[in-house]
Amino acid sequence: MSESLTRLLDGCRNGHSLPGGLYRDPEVYEKEIRAIFLKSWLCVGHQSQIPQRGDYFLFEMAGESVIIVRESEDRINALLNVCRHRGSRLCDTATGHESRLVCRYHGWTYGLDGSLRAASRMSDGFDRSLYGLHRLQLRVFAGLIFINFDPSPVPFDPIENDLAAPLAPYQLDRAKVAHRQNYPIASNWKLAVENYCECYHCAPAHPEYSVGHGRAIPGDELATLLAPVMARAAAAGLTEESYVRNSWLAAGALGTDRGYKRYALLRGHKTGSRDGSPLAPFLGTIKDYDGGATDLHFGPMMFGLAYCDHVVLYRFTPRGPRNTDCEITWLVNGSAAEGKDYDLAELTWLWDVTTVADKQIIERNQAGVDSRFYRPGPLSPMEEFTGLFLQWYVATMRAAG
Ligand code: FES
Ligand SMILES: [Fe+2]
Repeated sequence: MSESLTRLLDGCRNGHSLPGGLYRDPEVYEKEIRAIFLKSWLCVGHQSQIPQRGDYFLFEMAGESVIIVRESEDRINALLNVCRHRGSRLCDTATGHESRLVCRYHGWTYGLDGSLRAASRMSDGFDRSLYGLHRLQLRVFAGLIFINFDPSPVPFDPIENDLAAPLAPYQLDRAKVAHRQNYPIASNWKLAVENYCECYHCAPAHPEYSVGHGRAIPGDELATLLAPVMARAAAAGLTEESYVRNSWLAAGALGTDRGYKRYALLRGHKTGSRDGSPLAPFLGTIKDYDGGATDLHFGPMMFGLAYCDHVVLYRFTPRGPRNTDCEITWLVNGSAAEGKDYDLAELTWLWDVTTVADKQIIERNQAGVDSRFYRPGPLSPMEEFTGLFLQWYVATMRAAG
């Protein structure tokens, strides 16, 4: 570990924001990419984004580009977007369809499994089988596509084991993407995650959200509100468990971080909409609105909010020490038709308006922590989850050495 990183980590205090250098130092950022993002299971998308053989989308993170391509009905591959000849990118567009992957530089041609199929005018004895595209580890769970850059990754099973039961009623493998939207944020990735993890800011910053969501109020009041929701959960077809696990409590959980928590909606709101009224057909086997919503957390950068009629996935992807992509994906029942069963503008309204506000908040936070006079400040009890994230972060970076 470099001297400056050791010094910065030594300056961290539990229950406080981080020293300023951790929010901007390029060396720290590079270490984070290697220690956290290249070792963790990363949720990159949903299988419905690539329904046909040859459909692909790109996952871009920290200067890396990965082609997520469907090879067959039951096989999806994650291929590094780097030609094995002299390293050119193969695919440029964010989504597309190809029957083969052809490098436009010198024409090397790869199959959808990444194997090199053609390379003209190479020397005798050139062995094509040695020059397939690098293939990353990939798992599909609940319709969600997870990849891992590490060739010998941490086991995926803990994520599946903990989240299979709470996610079962939603049948996300039968859901479809209704909309995706990227909100680039000019900030370090940790400021974006810190913001997502707390609702201390919700009452002042998000009136549209706070009117219907119990996370915007203190925990003890929330517990009282949650009781009737839990009582209705089983009848609605949802699990009665209110809390499975928050693996940020365990510093050893690198790469398989996961969590699930159900909370109450307020004032009779049924879902995350403008006035709380329904937005789309029920997901999966859900039969009724129970007055709650489920917070989800997969890996270091993917969060989600599951309502009875749609799911919002929030992905934070580092793009540089001071640049983070916040991509939102709205999932609905796979058989729902836009315009008939749901209105896209209404479906996306709440989290669009909330994220536009968050982007501004987070960018102002970055500007402030960049001050020579900034010092880490104390967290409120309403920022407990942010505190856990920061503890996890410090422990993980220390363990990485
Ligand atoms: S770099 Fe791809 S074919 Fe030459
Ligand atoms: Fe927010």
